[in-house]
Amino acid sequence: MTMKKNYDIKDPSLAEKGKLRIDWAGREMPVIKLIQQRFAKEKPLKGIRISACLHITTETANLALTLREGGADVILCASNPLSTQDDVAAALIDCGIPVNAIKGEDNETYYKHIITALEHKPQITMDDGADLVSTLHKEYTELADGVIGGTEETTTGVIRLRNIARAGKLSYPIVAVNDAQTKHFFDNRYGTGQSAIDGITRATNILWAGRKVVVCGYGWCGKGIAKRAQGMGAQVIVTEVDPIPALEAVMDGFQVMPLIKACRIGEVFITATGDMNVVDKVHFMHMKDGAIVANSGHFNVEINIPALESLAKSKRRVRPFVDEYKLRDGRHIYLLGEGRLINLAAAEGHPASVMDMSFANQALCVEYLVKMKGKLKPDVYPVPEEIDKEVGRLKLGSMNIAIDSLTAEQRQYLDSWELGT
Ligand SMILES: NC(=O)c1ccc[n+]([C@@H]2O[C@H](COP(=O)([O-])OP(=O)(O)OC[C@H]3O[C@@H](n4cnc5c(N)ncnc54)[C@H](O)[C@@H]3O)[C@@H](O)[C@H]2O)c1
Repeated sequence: MTMKKNYDIKDPSLAEKGKLRIDWAGREMPVIKLIQQRFAKEKPLKGIRISACLHITTETANLALTLREGGADVILCASNPLSTQDDVAAALIDCGIPVNAIKGEDNETYYKHIITALEHKPQITMDDGADLVSTLHKEYTELADGVIGGTEETTTGVIRLRNIARAGKLSYPIVAVNDAQTKHFFDNRYGTGQSAIDGITRATNILWAGRKVVVCGYGWCGKGIAKRAQGMGAQVIVTEVDPIPALEAVMDGFQVMPLIKACRIGEVFITATGDMNVVDKVHFMHMKDGAIVANSGHFNVEINIPALESLAKSKRRVRPFVDEYKLRDGRHIYLLGEGRLINLAAAEGHPASVMDMSFANQALCVEYLVKMKGKLKPDVYPVPEEIDKEVGRLKLGSMNIAIDSLTAEQRQYLDSWELGT
């Protein structure tokens, strides 16, 4: 009997390069390392089949190796067609972890890879954007009975899962890792803040100082991007649809205005909303010649690319990850990374130090789901507070930072109401 090959990568000869980079990232992931050491002793995931749809990066490799140390049988596929690091995929194959991911794969290959991961018959699903879970719920419903639970990494995925749950169609419990404080406070804000600027810099080599930058969306990612762009000397304008983050942006010192006004002023546009057609045809019609447009949100729908194409006379790739659209009126607009999340398309994604916390939450939540097998109804659950706090404690410890603890008197005071003025 011939076994079907359960992996598909670009080039196995890249493995050595990938291993060096995985080790380098591992040096910045002390919390994952501690969990890995405990998992190696306790084997809490012994024999558990995990299908993980995550960005194939050096940090994800460290997570996959940790799950494997815990006894899990892990298969990986990409959570975005353009985020895979081909050397990391090769290194993981060398370590015996099947990976289905090729940087630049087309949509058909992307879903073929997701299906290969589902053919692993997961007991745990791990997702970043909910493409794996939604495919399972649409086309592979027979697998749901065997699934203990799942985890979801990002804001957009959590929104999609809550919509499945609201429709009464979620088949098993899923923990919203994104909603842990030790995830979105740090990964979305400082991780995306730094790496989106990094991706745009690597793609274009622009000088940020003095540049007029429009950040669409002032959520966790938008706050980070706006702050880092400002730190590089850019003049930052924020656009929002929600009055509260819009007010926050005003009081953080940014100009806030509708995009229809900002599109005439901006030189670089960065979307981070989780929404669609945020930068639309009407905005392209008013942009300055030479405007650069990039997305850092999960899906490539935030920039209306078909609308841009409809306005263009010609298109050519002028640098890796930079497409020049020449409009009929003679203006040029530069779209970065095909509108896909620019930090992973043109750079290496978030720095390992911040993914250390996100993926510590992932590993501990997988352990939690296995422990809770059969006890949770199908729904979207928050990360247990003990896990969130533990990740924070371990991260501070790894930085050699100590903090105070409550005295008995303070604890009693904070638990009481009698004492006032
Ligand atoms: N690139 C990465 O590595 C990375 C990392 C984390 C999250 N993400 C993704 O980035 C996106 C944003 O995540 P977040 O955690 O910041 O979400 P969030 O919910 O904290 O913030 C999104 C903000 O966008 C605003 N918004 C929505 N529609 C808008 C519109 N049309 N114009 C202007 N503002 C609008 C919302 O009001 C909200 O304040 C999601 O798709 C998420 O999955 C990407």
